Amino acid sequence: MSQNESPLPDQLIHPAASPSWVIVVAAGSGSRFGSEIPKQYLALGDRRVLDHCLESFRRWFGQQVVLVVHADRCKDDEPGAGCVVTGGSTRSESVRCGLAMVPVTAEFVLVHDAARPLIDPKVMTDLLDAIVGGADGAIPGVPVTDTIKRVVNGFVVETPNRNELVAVQTPQVFRADILRRAHADGADATDDAALVEQYGGRIAVVPGSLMLRKVTTLADLEYLKDVLAAQEWVDVT
Ligand code: CTP
Ligand code: MG
Repeated sequence: MSQNESPLPDQLIHPAASPSWVIVVAAGSGSRFGSEIPKQYLALGDRRVLDHCLESFRRWFGQQVVLVVHADRCKDDEPGAGCVVTGGSTRSESVRCGLAMVPVTAEFVLVHDAARPLIDPKVMTDLLDAIVGGADGAIPGVPVTDTIKRVVNGFVVETPNRNELVAVQTPQVFRADILRRAHADGADATDDAALVEQYGGRIAVVPGSLMLRKVTTLADLEYLKDVLAAQEWVDVT
């Protein structure tokens, strides 16, 4: 394998792969990152941040990939995506814009943040296993290492049991009908699982991955550069 190829299997052999569609949300402005170009368009290795996940999904799901971008970038040609649509002013709105492009025949829908460039194939398989196993949705979660407090007006109101807490990542996969119903009233949340939970859906949690770290600040991008470099080093040795 050359240094430019990503170390991903060419095919994802899974019964849930062909009836699945993928929505990649990339319409954010990256205000916390603070660069002139939104973080998902910055370079990571030999391509842009968002190209990495598009490449993985294109390999595994073919043309069944909807990329959601900001209106300013909607004219861009994005060969990694099956189709490109304009997003909205919140993440949930952007997901709804993508969902509108998913055919009614789709059985499962994966939603992924373009700001998480590196997809772990093991997580993908676990997610699809869980959805085929009957869950309404499945999400990757990483145990938290710090103690988490709920704070209101500068004072602690609760210390949840850390053993029950996970930090949640994407991709998240859902039964398509349930995801559509959970989004039908136009609600907003920081992830899609929250909307499906509110709707009464049963969400399975599979082990997350350090590879799925989201680019929020420059430190995240530097971390992912190291992960990518380590992968390439492993591939050529
Ligand atoms: N996103 C989107 N549409 C929005 C807001 C966010 O498609 N209106 C996407 C982002 O592009 C990103 C993902 O949702 O891939 C996760 O959001 P986040 O990490 O919060 O990115 P931004 O909203 O762009 O960053 P910030 O919150 O720092 O402004
Ligand atoms: Mg945001």
